Amino acid sequence: MTPAPSDTAHFFPRVPGGPLLTVARGEGIHLYDRDGRAFIDGASGAAVACLGHAHPRIVEALARQAATVAFTHSSVWISEPALELSDRLAAWVPDPDARVLFTSGGSEAVDTAIKLARAYQLARGRADRFRIASREVSYHGATMGALSATGLARRRAPYGPMLAPAIRTSTSYCYRCPHGQTPDACASECAADVESAIARHDADLAAVMIEPVVGASAPGVGAPPDYFRRVAEACRIHDVLFIADEVMSGAGRTGRRLAMEHYGVWPDVVVLSKGLSGGYAPLGAVIVSGRVYDAIRQTPPGQFIHGFTYSASPLAAAVGVEVQRVIDETGLLAHVEAMGARLREALTPVARQHAMVGDVRGRGLLVGLELVADRATREPFPPATRLAQRVFEAALEQGLIVYPCAGTLPDGRGDQILLAPPYIIRAEEVDDLAARLARALTVAAATIATQTPRS
Ligand SMILES: Cc1ncc(COP(=O)(O)O)c(C=O)c1O
Repeated sequence: MTPAPSDTAHFFPRVPGGPLLTVARGEGIHLYDRDGRAFIDGASGAAVACLGHAHPRIVEALARQAATVAFTHSSVWISEPALELSDRLAAWVPDPDARVLFTSGGSEAVDTAIKLARAYQLARGRADRFRIASREVSYHGATMGALSATGLARRRAPYGPMLAPAIRTSTSYCYRCPHGQTPDACASECAADVESAIARHDADLAAVMIEPVVGASAPGVGAPPDYFRRVAEACRIHDVLFIADEVMSGAGRTGRRLAMEHYGVWPDVVVLSKGLSGGYAPLGAVIVSGRVYDAIRQTPPGQFIHGFTYSASPLAAAVGVEVQRVIDETGLLAHVEAMGARLREALTPVARQHAMVGDVRGRGLLVGLELVADRATREPFPPATRLAQRVFEAALEQGLIVYPCAGTLPDGRGDQILLAPPYIIRAEEVDDLAARLARALTVAAATIATQTPRS
């Protein structure tokens, strides 16, 4: 099923000319279109709807807060929900003095982290430091600051001349090791690459930004065990901030509150959004270490001039608090871990049966499938095949929505599928999701065999 064009006479769609489904309602892990067709929300939108749709407790909390006070401006007011949410998020890092800033989304939170890094370096007397180092395979957001930090060539290309110069390091992308290593011979050359970028750019580097488990640019890619310890240590030695972009991996998606917990390493700054509010209100957050906050606080006012109209909105904060309560009170993190393991297990035979599945990887319910034309050489399909899109469309026919990632490699090739179902998904629904995806892969493979790719 190719999605039918919506009646979008005045609506500016994300992909101009692209077809869209019109949503009628959602319930649990399902979304329904206006013709009553049901779809499993297999990627929670884009790793957002972690509690599924129409969750009664969140709906109730939202209505209660809207009836109390929905909006106040953060230059004048602070609210109980914003205070409670900042306490809860600060407790996610082992730093009793951590502070939390709020935004309305991931890109705003990434931009906030970038400006914080600059403010920190100014506070340290390092006005020469302004650059951000990030990885070649990365997505950090759509605003100009976040896009400057983003590695994905396809997303950057049209705006190239307008973006801030960034420093690019290799990615801990074991399936396509940029250093030509194999897991048994690996000496974390990718960590050495970050270390050497930090040392080389001692003069102008403000911060290093990394996704602990990669999202849209290479879903599910993690890092060798000592990678983040080495990155954090190099940052500490050079007084460069280590920013973990946990917009996709954070707030429980990998079975831990923060994906960095898996590595036992604590960054100076953590960026969050998406699952933080489960999609019931636009919300992002930046957790800042007490050390960084103190350095900025002690400088003359004006070094960190920043804020958004919707920063710390009582409505979004109340939603964030209730989402966290539900996760805690229903033991959802352990469930995410168990369902993630089950999903990867269910995908193992799928990968065996479908030659185009080169790799299945991930943590918790952040799972990626990498699709290749040749499993032995790991050669990607040509972009004209539009494979990720074909799988997306074939999955729709099966009543499943996945998140297609195309052009993920620096040369513009690369097809991957992101699976990130709601945390509330049940075991039998995980199996059903995998079975639907398997059927979609069969259909997509058949269409490639029978159709000439569009160029
Ligand atoms: C790792 C990461 N950072 C930042 C962003 C940007 O977030 P938003 O789309 O909410 O602006 C995303 C969005 O997909 C993301 O995956």
